[in-house]
Amino acid sequence: MMKKNKNINKKVFFSFNLEKKLSSQMKKSFNFLKDDTYLKSHDWIFRKRSYGRGKILKFKIIWSKQTNFFQKKKNNKYVGGIKRKFAVMKPVIKKEVEIIIFNLKKKNLIGNDINFFGAHAIRIICDKNNLGYPVPEGYHHDGFDFVLVIAVNSSNILGGKSYLKNASSKKIVFTKSLKNNQALFFNDKKLLHYATPIKLTKGKLGFRDMIVLTFSK
Ligand SMILES: [Fe+2]
Repeated sequence: MMKKNKNINKKVFFSFNLEKKLSSQMKKSFNFLKDDTYLKSHDWIFRKRSYGRGKILKFKIIWSKQTNFFQKKKNNKYVGGIKRKFAVMKPVIKKEVEIIIFNLKKKNLIGNDINFFGAHAIRIICDKNNLGYPVPEGYHHDGFDFVLVIAVNSSNILGGKSYLKNASSKKIVFTKSLKNNQALFFNDKKLLHYATPIKLTKGKLGFRDMIVLTFSK
């Protein structure tokens, strides 16, 4: 069920539940994500990830073999301006990403003018001594037309609340801790996004698993 949002016609942001719940096989695959080797702290690796990108055709997705990723310094003060190469996204995740992209088309959240996408599977971890930072760079644009953030799974954590802020007025327009299988779609040019650090509540390790999709013309 879609939630009513007065901005839907302007497609500024929109949160909804995924039509098809993510499979447990796909959720489990997040346990095997590789460390993000581009973090500034080398003694506390709080992010694990994989990546894929490609082209959206009318009835199919063409995945690129390339997994190079680049963000301008302007968009990512933390690690922008550096060419990064991430581990390749596993087919079990790619399969679900394809379904989600075609659902976005069906919902008219992305139109036929959107030709390219990027897909990130990201696990942020925290332990007794360390917080995990979903967005170490703070409020930012990803540098695309639209972004979709999907909550996959989380365990033993507090925090990880998503925020959207109007880029010109700087007014916060959205705050929510996304539940599993909930998604947040937004206009990356008009809004800045952020998520709060995660803190361990019990056990040895806490985590927050997300999929982030970016879309461009
Ligand atoms: Fe981002």
